[in-house]
Amino acid sequence: MKALILVGGYGTRLRPLTLSRPKPLVEFCNKPMLYHQILALHEAGVTHIILAVSYRAEMMEKELTDLASKLGVKMTYSLEEEPLGTAGPLALARDYLEGTEPFFVLNSDVICDFPFKDMIAFHTNHGAEGTLVVTTVAEPSKYGVVLYNEIGRIDSFVEKPQEFVSNKINAGLYMLSPSVLKRIPLRPTSIEKDVFPGMADQKQLYAMELKGYWMDIGQPRDYLTGMCLYLTSLHRRQSGELSTGSQFVGSVLVHETAQIGQNCRIGPNVVIGPNVIVEDGVRVQRTTLLGGSKVRAYSMLNDCIIGWNCDIGRWVRMENVCVLGEDVLVKDELYINGGFILPHKEIKVSVLEPQIIM
Ligand code: GDD
Ligand code: MG
Repeated sequence: MKALILVGGYGTRLRPLTLSRPKPLVEFCNKPMLYHQILALHEAGVTHIILAVSYRAEMMEKELTDLASKLGVKMTYSLEEEPLGTAGPLALARDYLEGTEPFFVLNSDVICDFPFKDMIAFHTNHGAEGTLVVTTVAEPSKYGVVLYNEIGRIDSFVEKPQEFVSNKINAGLYMLSPSVLKRIPLRPTSIEKDVFPGMADQKQLYAMELKGYWMDIGQPRDYLTGMCLYLTSLHRRQSGELSTGSQFVGSVLVHETAQIGQNCRIGPNVVIGPNVIVEDGVRVQRTTLLGGSKVRAYSMLNDCIIGWNCDIGRWVRMENVCVLGEDVLVKDELYINGGFILPHKEIKVSVLEPQIIM
């Protein structure tokens, strides 16, 4: 079976992290976002993955080659000269997708217990052209909203509605029959605005409800919420990956190469990446520390994403969704309240109100 993953887009809402790496390669719970999808697709029996890339293709290829060969999954990089949106890439990859078998299409920035096997059964059962996974959210306006009947047949699809339509939204996971390719021209086209509404009108699109957690992790606040959901799900499954010990509170994921000092209090909901150093007496909650970062003694972090190779001084306090780009230095004893700090900055004075530091 085949799958196409949409990995283009500039990931602007996840800046400053995406200034250093394309969004699909930003690590989420110690694996690049894309690894979560690739591993789950492999598990469901997918043997050929087409990555629809619109920029930084070399970096993607470099990072994925080892994983793909380890899994025995064939990877094809379908490179767009100009971004083709969320449907155009399917037309570009037509030669790979044509045939008789339905294929998966995925947004690269969603996280959940991927229901790929259930999707195959559901799609075969209804026999129409497309299956779309739906989930329920409190704030539907930033998503694609769907209305469907008791058997799941979608009556209407509205992308980013201005007014409330429903709280059932497109989770960004599809199974499509090859006939859908006839609906898509080879130019910038949106699957949500240009393809799904027409399929719904012709009764060719069905909704499969997702069980369990779901999050689009393409924005810092949602990334942190998604991290909590993912860690809770590891905890529920009694995964041996979570850390245990007197320094840890709740669900905490620590990379085997990280070093943690004495008398720390880490958790709940913390992810510590490879080669991170946490010195003595540090307090961390609801935070991801990406690879190579260092938190010096007696600092306190709450609600933060700390980029690669950052250096946080002693007695620093950071909270209220702080996102540090790669290689940021924060001097001792500062207070940072909701700062988005661009890569390679040196912070010498406190940031008292949420702001972007360039
Ligand atoms: N190849 C390629 N080319 N990929 C693209 C392009 C492009 O020009 N533009 C966006 N993508 C990819 C993104 O990388 C992402 O994986 C996916 O398409 C969706 O784009 P987002 O920018 O993340 O869209 P969104 O989050 O605003 O909305 C989408 O996802 C929601 C669920 O998270 C829509 O599909 C909504 O309907 C949906 O509810
Ligand atoms: Mg998104």
